[in-house]
Amino acid sequence: MAGGYFFLLVVILNVSSSFQTSDTVNPCCYYPCQNKGVCVRYDPDQYVCDCTRTGYYGRNCTIPELLTRIRDFVRPSPAFYHYILTRFKWFWEIINNTFIRDTIVRLVLTVRSNLIPSPPTYNSAYGYISWEAYSNVSYFTRVLPPVPDDCPTPMGTKGKLELPDATYLVETFLQRRNFIPDPQKTNLMFAFFAQHFTHQFFKTFGRMGRGFTKGLGHGVDLSHVYGDNLERQHALRLFKDGKLKYQIINGDMYPPTVADAPVYMIYPDNVPVEKRLAMGQEVFGLLPGLMMYATIWLREHNRVCDILKKEHPVWDDEQLFQTARLILIGETIKIVIEDYVQHLSGYFLKLKFDPELLFGVQFQYRNRIAVEFNELYHWHPLMPDNFNILGQVYNYSNFIYNTSMLTDYGVEALVESFTRQIAGKVKHFLFMT
Ligand code: HEM
Ligand SMILES: *[C@@H]1O[C@H](CO)[C@@H](O)[C@H](O)[C@H]1NC(C)=O
Ligand SMILES: *[C@@H]1O[C@H](CO)[C@@H](O)[C@H](O)[C@H]1NC(C)=O
Ligand SMILES: *[C@@H]1O[C@H](CO)[C@@H](O)[C@H](O)[C@H]1NC(C)=O
Ligand SMILES: *[C@@H]1O[C@H](CO)[C@@H](O)[C@H](O)[C@H]1NC(C)=O
Ligand SMILES: *[C@@H]1O[C@H](CO)[C@@H](O)[C@H](O)[C@H]1NC(C)=O
Repeated sequence: MAGGYFFLLVVILNVSSSFQTSDTVNPCCYYPCQNKGVCVRYDPDQYVCDCTRTGYYGRNCTIPELLTRIRDFVRPSPAFYHYILTRFKWFWEIINNTFIRDTIVRLVLTVRSNLIPSPPTYNSAYGYISWEAYSNVSYFTRVLPPVPDDCPTPMGTKGKLELPDATYLVETFLQRRNFIPDPQKTNLMFAFFAQHFTHQFFKTFGRMGRGFTKGLGHGVDLSHVYGDNLERQHALRLFKDGKLKYQIINGDMYPPTVADAPVYMIYPDNVPVEKRLAMGQEVFGLLPGLMMYATIWLREHNRVCDILKKEHPVWDDEQLFQTARLILIGETIKIVIEDYVQHLSGYFLKLKFDPELLFGVQFQYRNRIAVEFNELYHWHPLMPDNFNILGQVYNYSNFIYNTSMLTDYGVEALVESFTRQIAGKVKHFLFMT
């Protein structure tokens, strides 16, 4: 890496006038480097900021280069773009029917993907660039390096010597006192979609540590439908016509029980084995909203298999399964972009899922899920105080781990109810231009 050579050069030439502290506190604990400059320590009490390609220079990467100055002067702020995209409906309706729509959607996709460091940088064990941090996908990546272990306080040099009790923090700052309906009119159908969709790649592997993930695909691999490993996938498959195992209740298709598809699922002891549904994601027994989406995707997979088999009578089970999975991945991304992100963004620009938009341009298809992304996606305030299913009000004890609710009401009734019930306001949706 260019940064590494720069660092070596500095050490060899010993050009820096160093920052000294009275005792030898790791100087990087002060976070001296600005504008994404990288703090490199080369003596107990000395550091340099590697400002390579930051657009800044100087001891702490604080002085803008000429190009940076010009760019900052002429470039409109992200808030400006957001303003334009969320107003002038008539304008966007005209754009919608021209090639300019494709150009802007392409721009949105490339600009946003370029905000993310790629290849991935740090993880919870490595605060510097390393092969291990790059290649070991058992870790979530980290955009910001962890605070060095030898800092005087858990936050570097600021804050208390010991972090306050988490329960205290939650109760004081995070816990909701009053339900606030979402001003964008987000409903529970959206909320459960968010939870269902993101739990294919947000799967903290607690047993290994908070910095680890079980979602080795790091993206939209539909492991929440098919399982995150081959053994689980096989336990969920029917091995006939590409289909997934299922059971029929009241004439409708539902996920099989764990007796039929022996996969590890999290259920409390009071849920009898014959009521335990088997799904791709081990936590989806938690909420009828998640089971509902699991059921919808199960039905969709098997429906697509029927169509594929008709069109390709010669395909074996494996090819039908694999092709159906690819189709469901495409369907998922289409829904995520054209409905889910469209809603979140509040844009009047009509977003579009079209892989061909990115043909012929540089685009990074590989992805790595970051701890920060996971942290910001804890949209728990979306949840209501109770759940209204066809006029009947259920509290949390009635609702959680209640697999009968899915089969008693059926998918349509749940879709109807979740669509009508408004979700809570999330204070900081992360979708800003
Ligand atoms: C009643 C509904 C919900 C309950 C009871 C619930 C409960 C939980 C629990 C117990 C955890 C584990 C916390 C930990 O390990 O520290 C968790 C994690 C999480 N929740 Fe929820 N949650 C709910 C709804 C949602 C919704 C609607 C979202 C929306 C996106 C969401 C997003 C997340 C995320 C991203 C994580 C981290 C997952 C991981 O890394 O493994 N949750 N939730
Ligand atoms: C660089 O940062 C350090 C630590 O924050 C500060 O003490 C020092 O004055 C800064 N130097 C310059 C040239 O900005
Ligand atoms: C946008 O254009 C597409 C076709 O390009 C059309 O199907 C859709 O209805 C249009 N939407 C709006 C809001 O004009
Ligand atoms: C990834 O790192 C963890 C923790 O050090 C280790 O247990 C695991 O074996 C590593 N995985 C690979 C594929 O090297
Ligand atoms: C939830 O409702 C049930 C009645 O359906 C009631 O017995 C129970 O006490 C309620 N639980 C809570 C936590 O309010
Ligand atoms: C589960 O939901 C059903 C409604 O479908 C309800 O009758 C039942 O009481 C709920 N179970 C529990 C344990 O609350």
